[in-house]
Amino acid sequence: HDIAFSNKPLAGKTVMITAGPTVEAIDPVRFISNHSSGKMGYALAKAARIAGAEVELISGPVNIRAPYEVEVTRVTSAAEMLAAVKEKIETVDVFIGCAAVADYSPVEVSCHKIKKNDEVMSLKLQRNPDILAWVAARQDKPLVVGFAAESQSLEFYARKKLEKKNLDMICANDICCEGLGFNSENNQLLLMKKDGSQILLDIASKEVLAQQIIQEIVNQISDNSH
Ligand code: CTP
Ligand code: CA
Repeated sequence: HDIAFSNKPLAGKTVMITAGPTVEAIDPVRFISNHSSGKMGYALAKAARIAGAEVELISGPVNIRAPYEVEVTRVTSAAEMLAAVKEKIETVDVFIGCAAVADYSPVEVSCHKIKKNDEVMSLKLQRNPDILAWVAARQDKPLVVGFAAESQSLEFYARKKLEKKNLDMICANDICCEGLGFNSENNQLLLMKKDGSQILLDIASKEVLAQQIIQEIVNQISDNSH
Protein backbone atom coordinates (compact mmCIF):
# COMPACT_ATOMS: atom_id res chain seq x y z
CA HIS A 1 0.00 0.00 0.00
CA ASP A 2 3.06 2.26 -0.09
CA ILE A 3 2.07 4.28 -3.12
CA ALA A 4 3.82 7.36 -1.70
CA PHE A 5 7.16 8.33 -3.26
CA SER A 6 6.90 5.82 -6.11
CA ASN A 7 9.12 8.19 -8.13
CA LYS A 8 11.91 7.83 -5.50
CA PRO A 9 12.57 11.57 -5.05
CA LEU A 10 15.46 10.93 -2.60
CA ALA A 11 17.34 8.44 -4.77
CA GLY A 12 21.08 9.15 -4.55
CA LYS A 13 20.69 11.04 -1.24
CA THR A 14 21.84 9.89 2.20
CA VAL A 15 19.54 10.67 5.13
CA MET A 16 20.78 10.31 8.71
CA ILE A 17 18.23 10.15 11.53
CA THR A 18 18.71 10.02 15.30
CA ALA A 19 15.92 8.26 17.19
CA GLY A 20 14.83 7.07 20.61
CA PRO A 21 16.12 8.18 24.00
CA THR A 22 19.70 8.29 25.20
CA VAL A 23 20.46 6.54 28.48
CA GLU A 24 23.09 7.99 30.83
CA ALA A 25 24.50 5.63 33.45
CA ILE A 26 24.67 6.66 37.11
CA ASP A 27 25.97 3.31 38.38
CA PRO A 28 25.71 -0.32 37.13
CA VAL A 29 21.94 -0.45 37.80
CA ARG A 30 20.70 3.14 37.46
CA PHE A 31 20.37 5.70 34.73
CA ILE A 32 18.93 9.04 33.62
CA SER A 33 16.82 9.09 30.48
CA ASN A 34 13.84 10.61 28.64
CA HIS A 35 10.49 9.15 27.64
CA SER A 36 10.78 8.25 23.98
CA SER A 37 9.44 5.21 22.13
CA GLY A 38 11.49 5.86 19.00
CA LYS A 39 8.36 5.44 16.83
CA MET A 40 8.67 8.83 15.11
CA GLY A 41 12.35 8.36 14.20
CA TYR A 42 11.80 4.82 12.90
CA ALA A 43 8.76 5.98 10.87
CA LEU A 44 10.95 8.72 9.35
CA ALA A 45 13.64 6.17 8.49
CA LYS A 46 11.08 3.97 6.75
CA ALA A 47 9.56 6.90 4.84
CA ALA A 48 12.98 8.16 3.74
CA ARG A 49 13.91 4.67 2.51
CA ILE A 50 10.63 4.36 0.59
CA ALA A 51 11.47 7.74 -0.96
CA GLY A 52 14.67 6.15 -2.28
CA ALA A 53 17.26 7.48 0.17
CA GLU A 54 20.12 5.57 1.69
CA VAL A 55 19.21 5.73 5.41
CA GLU A 56 21.51 5.75 8.44
CA LEU A 57 19.49 5.41 11.64
CA ILE A 58 21.39 6.15 14.86
CA SER A 59 19.19 4.75 17.61
CA GLY A 60 19.10 4.83 21.39
CA PRO A 61 17.60 1.81 23.20
CA VAL A 62 14.08 1.08 21.86
CA ASN A 63 11.92 -1.96 21.16
CA ILE A 64 11.49 -1.55 17.43
CA ARG A 65 12.92 -3.68 14.64
CA ALA A 66 15.08 -2.04 11.99
CA PRO A 67 12.95 -0.91 9.03
CA TYR A 68 13.55 -2.77 5.75
CA GLU A 69 16.85 -1.80 4.09
CA VAL A 70 17.74 0.73 6.80
CA GLU A 71 21.19 0.63 8.43
CA VAL A 72 20.81 0.90 12.22
CA THR A 73 23.64 1.85 14.58
CA ARG A 74 22.63 1.19 18.18
CA VAL A 75 23.96 3.46 20.90
CA THR A 76 23.26 4.15 24.57
CA SER A 77 24.52 7.54 25.75
CA ALA A 78 24.50 10.99 24.11
CA ALA A 79 28.30 10.81 23.83
CA GLU A 80 28.00 7.51 21.93
CA MET A 81 25.26 8.95 19.73
CA LEU A 82 27.46 11.91 18.80
CA ALA A 83 30.41 9.59 18.06
CA ALA A 84 28.22 7.45 15.77
CA VAL A 85 26.94 10.58 13.98
CA LYS A 86 30.51 11.89 13.50
CA GLU A 87 31.63 8.58 12.04
CA LYS A 88 29.21 8.77 9.11
CA ILE A 89 28.36 12.48 8.73
CA GLU A 90 30.67 13.11 5.76
CA THR A 91 28.29 11.71 3.13
CA VAL A 92 25.02 12.92 4.67
CA ASP A 93 22.69 15.15 2.60
CA VAL A 94 19.83 15.38 5.11
CA PHE A 95 20.07 15.11 8.91
CA ILE A 96 16.96 14.67 11.06
CA GLY A 97 17.45 14.94 14.83
CA CYS A 98 14.52 13.03 16.26
CA ALA A 99 16.21 11.55 19.33
CA ALA A 100 15.24 12.57 22.85
CA VAL A 101 18.83 13.23 23.88
CA ALA A 102 19.41 13.57 27.62
CA ASP A 103 20.54 17.14 28.28
CA TYR A 104 22.81 16.11 31.17
CA SER A 105 24.79 13.09 32.30
CA PRO A 106 26.46 12.24 35.62
CA VAL A 107 29.94 13.73 35.99
CA GLU A 108 31.08 10.48 37.58
CA VAL A 109 29.75 7.01 36.81
CA SER A 110 30.14 4.84 39.88
CA CYS A 111 31.47 1.38 39.03
CA HIS A 112 29.73 -0.01 42.11
CA LYS A 113 26.05 0.21 43.02
CA ILE A 114 25.59 3.37 45.07
CA LYS A 115 24.38 2.63 48.61
CA LYS A 116 21.63 4.68 50.19
CA ASN A 117 22.84 6.75 53.12
CA ASP A 118 21.63 10.28 53.68
CA GLU A 119 18.00 11.42 53.54
CA VAL A 120 18.91 13.86 50.81
CA MET A 121 21.48 13.17 48.14
CA SER A 122 22.52 15.05 45.04
CA LEU A 123 24.04 14.03 41.75
CA LYS A 124 26.47 16.21 39.90
CA LEU A 125 25.51 16.45 36.22
CA GLN A 126 27.26 17.91 33.20
CA ARG A 127 25.75 19.22 29.95
CA ASN A 128 25.78 16.74 27.09
CA PRO A 129 26.92 17.79 23.62
CA ASP A 130 24.11 19.10 21.38
CA ILE A 131 24.22 16.69 18.44
CA LEU A 132 21.79 18.61 16.24
CA ALA A 133 23.60 21.92 16.78
CA TRP A 134 26.93 20.23 16.08
CA VAL A 135 25.70 18.94 12.71
CA ALA A 136 24.15 22.30 11.77
CA ALA A 137 27.38 24.15 12.62
CA ARG A 138 29.44 22.11 10.16
CA GLN A 139 31.01 23.94 7.25
CA ASP A 140 29.54 21.62 4.63
CA LYS A 141 26.21 21.39 6.45
CA PRO A 142 23.48 19.05 5.23
CA LEU A 143 19.80 20.06 5.23
CA VAL A 144 19.11 19.93 8.99
CA VAL A 145 15.71 19.19 10.56
CA GLY A 146 15.08 19.19 14.30
CA PHE A 147 12.23 18.41 16.67
CA ALA A 148 10.95 20.39 19.61
CA ALA A 149 8.59 18.97 22.22
CA GLU A 150 7.32 21.78 24.38
CA SER A 151 4.84 21.97 27.26
CA GLN A 152 4.33 25.76 26.92
CA SER A 153 4.76 28.59 24.38
CA LEU A 154 5.27 26.06 21.56
CA GLU A 155 5.83 28.47 18.67
CA PHE A 156 8.06 30.81 20.65
CA TYR A 157 10.46 28.12 21.94
CA ALA A 158 10.48 26.12 18.71
CA ARG A 159 11.29 29.22 16.60
CA LYS A 160 14.05 30.09 19.07
CA LYS A 161 15.59 26.61 18.67
CA LEU A 162 15.32 26.82 14.88
CA GLU A 163 17.23 30.10 14.86
CA LYS A 164 19.77 29.38 17.59
CA LYS A 165 20.75 25.98 16.14
CA ASN A 166 20.71 27.23 12.52
CA LEU A 167 18.16 24.61 11.36
CA ASP A 168 16.32 24.49 8.05
CA MET A 169 13.14 23.20 9.67
CA ILE A 170 11.83 22.27 13.11
CA CYS A 171 8.91 19.91 13.81
CA ALA A 172 7.22 21.30 16.90
CA ASN A 173 4.78 19.38 19.03
CA ASP A 174 2.78 20.41 22.04
CA ILE A 175 3.21 17.67 24.66
CA CYS A 176 0.20 19.00 26.58
CA CYS A 177 -2.27 17.75 23.94
CA GLU A 178 -3.84 14.76 25.65
CA GLY A 179 -3.10 11.36 24.18
CA LEU A 180 -0.55 12.72 21.74
CA GLY A 181 3.24 12.42 21.50
CA PHE A 182 5.63 10.17 23.45
CA ASN A 183 4.39 6.60 23.42
CA SER A 184 1.11 7.29 21.61
CA GLU A 185 0.33 6.28 18.04
CA ASN A 186 -0.89 9.72 16.94
CA ASN A 187 0.68 13.12 17.10
CA GLN A 188 0.16 16.68 15.91
CA LEU A 189 3.07 18.64 14.46
CA LEU A 190 3.70 22.21 13.43
CA LEU A 191 6.43 22.39 10.78
CA MET A 192 8.31 25.69 11.10
CA LYS A 193 10.72 26.67 8.36
CA LYS A 194 13.77 28.92 8.24
CA ASP A 195 12.01 31.39 5.91
CA GLY A 196 9.41 32.08 8.63
CA SER A 197 6.59 30.06 7.05
CA GLN A 198 4.88 27.24 8.90
CA ILE A 199 2.55 24.33 8.20
CA LEU A 200 0.18 22.86 10.80
CA LEU A 201 -0.24 19.17 10.01
CA ASP A 202 -3.47 17.41 10.96
CA ILE A 203 -3.43 14.97 13.87
CA ALA A 204 -2.31 11.70 12.34
CA SER A 205 -0.35 8.51 12.90
CA LYS A 206 3.43 8.84 13.13
CA GLU A 207 3.69 6.95 9.80
CA VAL A 208 1.57 9.56 8.02
CA LEU A 209 3.37 12.46 9.73
CA ALA A 210 6.73 10.96 8.76
CA GLN A 211 5.68 10.84 5.09
CA GLN A 212 4.57 14.48 5.27
CA ILE A 213 7.90 15.54 6.82
CA ILE A 214 9.85 13.63 4.16
CA GLN A 215 7.66 15.25 1.45
CA GLU A 216 8.48 18.68 2.89
CA ILE A 217 12.21 17.81 2.86
CA VAL A 218 11.88 16.72 -0.80
CA ASN A 219 10.23 20.09 -1.59
CA GLN A 220 13.02 22.01 0.16
CA ILE A 221 15.75 20.09 -1.66
CA SER A 222 14.15 20.79 -5.04
CA ASP A 223 13.64 24.50 -4.14
CA ASN A 224 17.32 24.78 -3.20
CA SER A 225 18.50 23.21 -6.44
CA HIS A 226 16.70 25.79 -8.61
N1 CTP B 1 19.14 17.59 20.52
C1 CTP B 1 20.36 17.02 20.24
N2 CTP B 1 21.31 16.90 21.21
C2 CTP B 1 21.07 17.33 22.46
C3 CTP B 1 19.82 17.91 22.78
C4 CTP B 1 18.86 18.02 21.79
O1 CTP B 1 20.59 16.61 19.09
N3 CTP B 1 22.01 17.21 23.38
C5 CTP B 1 18.14 17.74 19.45
C6 CTP B 1 16.90 16.89 19.59
O2 CTP B 1 17.08 15.67 18.91
C7 CTP B 1 15.83 17.76 18.92
C8 CTP B 1 16.30 19.17 19.20
O3 CTP B 1 17.68 19.08 19.50
O4 CTP B 1 15.83 17.59 17.52
C9 CTP B 1 15.58 19.89 20.28
O5 CTP B 1 15.64 19.15 21.47
P1 CTP B 1 14.97 19.75 22.77
O6 CTP B 1 15.23 18.87 23.93
O7 CTP B 1 13.55 20.12 22.43
O8 CTP B 1 15.75 21.15 22.92
P2 CTP B 1 17.04 21.55 23.69
O9 CTP B 1 17.90 22.30 22.73
O10 CTP B 1 17.69 20.40 24.39
O11 CTP B 1 16.50 22.59 24.75
P3 CTP B 1 15.59 22.37 26.07
O12 CTP B 1 15.58 20.90 26.40
O13 CTP B 1 16.24 23.23 27.12
O14 CTP B 1 14.20 22.87 25.71
CA1 CA C 1 16.53 18.96 25.76
